[in-house]
Amino acid sequence: MVIAVYPGSFDPATYGHLDVIKRASISFDKVVVGVLHNSSKSPLFSVEERVNILREATKEIPNVDIKRFEGLSVNFARENNAQVIVRGLRAVTDFEYELQMAQTNRVLAPDIDTVFMTTSLEYAYLSSTIMKEVALFGGDLDKFAPPAITNAVLAKLHGSAKKL
Ligand code: PNS
Repeated sequence: MVIAVYPGSFDPATYGHLDVIKRASISFDKVVVGVLHNSSKSPLFSVEERVNILREATKEIPNVDIKRFEGLSVNFARENNAQVIVRGLRAVTDFEYELQMAQTNRVLAPDIDTVFMTTSLEYAYLSSTIMKEVALFGGDLDKFAPPAITNAVLAKLHGSAKKL
């Protein structure tokens, strides 16, 4: 049984993240998505909200679990008996940071491998930050995340869930 963890901030999840989760759920027996609670950052959504958003968006995928975590990703992997850390790679600009993280994780936990999934082309430009910026200035969010998520972003930023 190969278990993978997919750690990230997910503030909030986009179609790009959901695509990686879906594809990882096909390649691995179980995928545990780890939503990082980092007390030194102030995300738009609390960790509970980010977990709930992801639970709702992945509820049809039986072998996916969503959990919050604090501290190191490799410890989260160990706690979940995972052999693999999954990360999405969008573009070459992601590569340096991702490689450094993967190598650090390898030094910390040589028994855990990082597997990169190349993001599907249609989501290669997309990030939570881009989605929040477009939302802030009233752009159309339909291509970025499912309605439940885009409505939550609009509600947070504009105090109502109206569609722009
Ligand atoms: O979605 P993000 O913000 O790109 O995810 C980054 C994340 C959460 C995977 C990374 O910051 C992380 O692993 N944080 C936990 C701390 C850790 O394990 N650091 C060592 C690797 S550099």
